[in-house]
Amino acid sequence: MVTYFNVVGTGGKRTLKGNIRVGGAKNAALKAIAATVLLQDEAELTNLPHIEDVSRLLDLIESMGGYVSRGAHRAHVNASRLASQVMTPEISKRIRASIVMTGPILAKYGKVAFPHPGGCVIGARPIDLFVDAFLKMGATIREDGKLYHIEAKDGRLQGAEIFFKNQSVTGTETILMAATLAQGVTTIKNAALEPEIVWLAELLNSSGAKISGAGTTTITITGVKKLKSNKAAWKIMPDRIEAGSFIVLGAIAAKELVVEDCEPKHLESLLLHLTQAGIPIEVGKHSVTVRSPKKLPTAVDLKTHEYPGFPTDLQAPMTVFLTQSHGESLVFETIFEGRLSYTESLNQMGANISMMDPHRVLVRGPQKLKARNLESPDLRAGLAFIIAGIVAEGDTHIHNVYNIDRGYESIEERLRAVGVDITRVM
Ligand code: EPU
Repeated sequence: MVTYFNVVGTGGKRTLKGNIRVGGAKNAALKAIAATVLLQDEAELTNLPHIEDVSRLLDLIESMGGYVSRGAHRAHVNASRLASQVMTPEISKRIRASIVMTGPILAKYGKVAFPHPGGCVIGARPIDLFVDAFLKMGATIREDGKLYHIEAKDGRLQGAEIFFKNQSVTGTETILMAATLAQGVTTIKNAALEPEIVWLAELLNSSGAKISGAGTTTITITGVKKLKSNKAAWKIMPDRIEAGSFIVLGAIAAKELVVEDCEPKHLESLLLHLTQAGIPIEVGKHSVTVRSPKKLPTAVDLKTHEYPGFPTDLQAPMTVFLTQSHGESLVFETIFEGRLSYTESLNQMGANISMMDPHRVLVRGPQKLKARNLESPDLRAGLAFIIAGIVAEGDTHIHNVYNIDRGYESIEERLRAVGVDITRVM
C-alpha cells in the first residue's frame, strides 16, 4: 500500500489560524537515548517526540540487550548492561544518528562494532572526524567489509586533545560522551555550538560528568568512572527546527499563528531573516506569534551556517517562503552538498529557482505554485513540500512520508488543527 499526504492548497490565500505546539527535539532526544548507555542505572526520558528516528534508536538499544519501556512521550531506558556491543546493522543503517551510539558504547565497554550509518540522503555524510578522534583517544580500528570494529587500548579510552577539521554536531556529541568515561582530560577544539550540545552537556553533568565549555568552540571533559541518572534532567528540550518550520509556515500562509512551547532564543537567525522580509513577529518567553504582513514580503539572502547562524535544517522551508516573496534571493547552503536538489521539484510546481552551483540557488518571486506529485527526498525538504503544497493551487500529493514521520510527530493532525487541509492517504 502506498501512503502519501494529500494537501489541498489555498492558492496563496492566508487562511491558517490558531496555536501549534512544539514537541521535544529529535536531535536532542536521539543523543539522550545514546547517553543512557553511559549510566549505571535507568533513565526516564520525558517530552520524548513520538517519531520514527526515536523509535528506531530505542529498537537498537533493545536489540543489543537493553531494557526499554515506552509510554506516551516518555520511555524508561536501562542500557547499563548491554549484552552485545555490535550495533545491529539493519537498524543502524536506517538512521544516521545511530553513529552517536559509538561514543558511549566504546567508552563504557571498551569496544564497539557498527556499519556505516544511513539516514537522510543529503550529500556525502562521512565519519572521518569520529574515527580520527577515537584513534587519538587510543583506540584501534579494523574494517571487515561489513562493519567497523573499534577497540580501546586496555579497555578504556584515554583523554586526548582533539581538533575537529569541521564543526560537526554529532561529532562533537559523540566524542563528548566518549570522553565522560575516559581516563584523563579530553579537549575538543573547533567544537560545534548547537543548543542540543549545551543541553546534552548539562544532562551529563547532572548525572556526574565533568564537562565545561559546551556552547563554545573549546569543550573540556574530565573523565569520571561512573554516571548515575538525575531524574529531572531527562526532559527533552523543545525542537527548534520544528518550531522554525512552523514559524515559516505562519509567515507564508497564516493570518495569525502562535507557535507554543518553543525557545525563541534558539531561533534568532530565522526571526531576523523573517523580520527583514517584512513579517510581523511577536516573541514571547516560550512562544512566537507570526501575523500576516500588510504587503508582500520582500526577498532576503540566506546563508546557512553552524549555530548561531541560519540552520541548514530550515533552509528548505525558508526557500519555499522566498518563492512567495518579492524580488531575488540568493540561498547559499554551506553545510551539505546536495541539499538544494529539492528545488527542482519546486520549479516543477512553478517556482523560478536557478541553480548556480551545488551550493547556491537564486530564487525569483513571487511565483504562483501549482500542485504536483512530489517525492520527499529528506525530512526537512519533505516538510518544505507540505508548505509548498499549502500555498499551491490544487491537490499536492507528497510521497515517501516515512521521511517526514522520521522527524515530525503526527504532522497532519497538528496542521489540520490550525486550518491546513491535509490527509494521510493509505
Ligand atoms: N563532516 C565531516 N566528517 C565527519 C562528520 C561530518 O566532514 O566525520 C562534515 C559533514 O559532511 C558536513 C559538516 O561536517 O559538511 C557538518 O555536518 P555535521 O556533522 O554537523 O552534521 P551531523 O552531525 O551529521 C546534525 C544533525 C542534522 C543537521 C546537522 C547540521 C543530528 C542527528 N543531525 O547532523 O540534522 O542538519 O547536524 O546542523 O543531530 C535533520 O535533523 O534533518 C538533520 C539532518
